[in-house]
Amino acid sequence: MTTSSPLPVPTPAVVTAPPAISLVVPTFNEAANIDELLSRICAALPPDAPGAGAVDVLFVDDSTDNTPEVVRDAALRCPIPVAVHHRPEPHGGLGGAVVEGITRTTATWIVVMDADLQHPPGLIPELIAAGERTGAELVVASRYADGGSRQGLAGGYRMLVSGASTLVAKAVFPRALHAVSDPMSGFFAIRREAVERGLSGEGLRPLGYKILLELAVRCRPRGVAELPYEFGERFAGESKSTLKEGLRFLRHLALLRTAESRARMIAFGLVGASGFLPNLAVLWLLIHGTGMHYVPAEIIANQAGLLWNFLIIDSLVYRDHRRQHRRSLRMLSFGALGNADLVVRIPLLALLVTAAGIPPVPATALSLIVVFALRFVIVDRVLYRRRQA
Ligand code: GDD
Ligand code: MN
Repeated sequence: MTTSSPLPVPTPAVVTAPPAISLVVPTFNEAANIDELLSRICAALPPDAPGAGAVDVLFVDDSTDNTPEVVRDAALRCPIPVAVHHRPEPHGGLGGAVVEGITRTTATWIVVMDADLQHPPGLIPELIAAGERTGAELVVASRYADGGSRQGLAGGYRMLVSGASTLVAKAVFPRALHAVSDPMSGFFAIRREAVERGLSGEGLRPLGYKILLELAVRCRPRGVAELPYEFGERFAGESKSTLKEGLRFLRHLALLRTAESRARMIAFGLVGASGFLPNLAVLWLLIHGTGMHYVPAEIIANQAGLLWNFLIIDSLVYRDHRRQHRRSLRMLSFGALGNADLVVRIPLLALLVTAAGIPPVPATALSLIVVFALRFVIVDRVLYRRRQA
């Protein structure tokens, strides 16, 4: 509703201050890139431009070289506030550094970018403008959007790995990554509200390089925009990504996906089914190799299946939620639960057949389902109970 007023008043759009921006830059031995990076950031976001909003830069550093000193020195010459947080312990690698950086800033928009100038600082104002214009909570600078390019990826091998991991991530998270063509991007802008949603609940626990993947899945940003960009060559120094990072990425995907209990139940079922293989193999060996009677043979073979299940479940599905710190004790409880299986299932079966009058085959199927569900609930809610962040 509007009321008439005798004097013209400026419309709110004119007086609204532009949103504040915090740049978070993870660094690991990037001394030779700092000066050039800061001068390009200042050129892209000149602090004295009319109507310029507040901008600050935070380097989160795990370097073993003199990067922190170089940053402090460059900060003295830089017209925008620049700080460096050197971490004594590099928890979570690149992704851990970014999350630590985000929690140490306060601006409405957080822009994450690399220090080596493969991410063009000139795009920052456009990322923010796109977010403001569309209301999106996440704006991704994408190598795969129309007009983008990844020519700066060193060699066919890196291109292949990058393309394949993008496909895998999108297949594992079709909904969360639906609007993101480049979930592996290290260059994006995100609104603080979205990050805070991710920090409450289970919290953010990135593993290594793929911080955008973590934020897109755990924060479920409302509205995603993308801008194409050309992933350039490194300005100086060398890439820190390794084969180990690639393996960390797969573990990261498994952890993220199994954050939902439905997905954990499916994983638990699949791992359980895969345990038939070692179980049957050991059974065959014992019966045919040593001539053992099938009853003790199956009791032993069952242990092989349980061990297999335990190793996969403990290292992949519940890696982050080990309550008991000693692996041998976790293995014992898991094994006890697995062996209790028969003890519970046979009386249950008898009850279903005699008292409920269900024929033996469907009764067996039913008992298997009940015991599976029980086992899952005990493993998921007791042995590896999740803590709230
Ligand atoms: N604090 C910290 N700790 N920073 C790190 C670490 C670490 O353990 N490892 C790497 N960095 C910093 C580097 O110093 C650099 O500023 C940035 O993270 C990216 O590292 P690069 O080694 O240059 O990675 P890249 O070029 O192979 O890949 C980057 O770009 C891709 C495309 O956007 C990464 O951002 C990838 O995640 C991204 O997919
Ligand atoms: Mn790089």
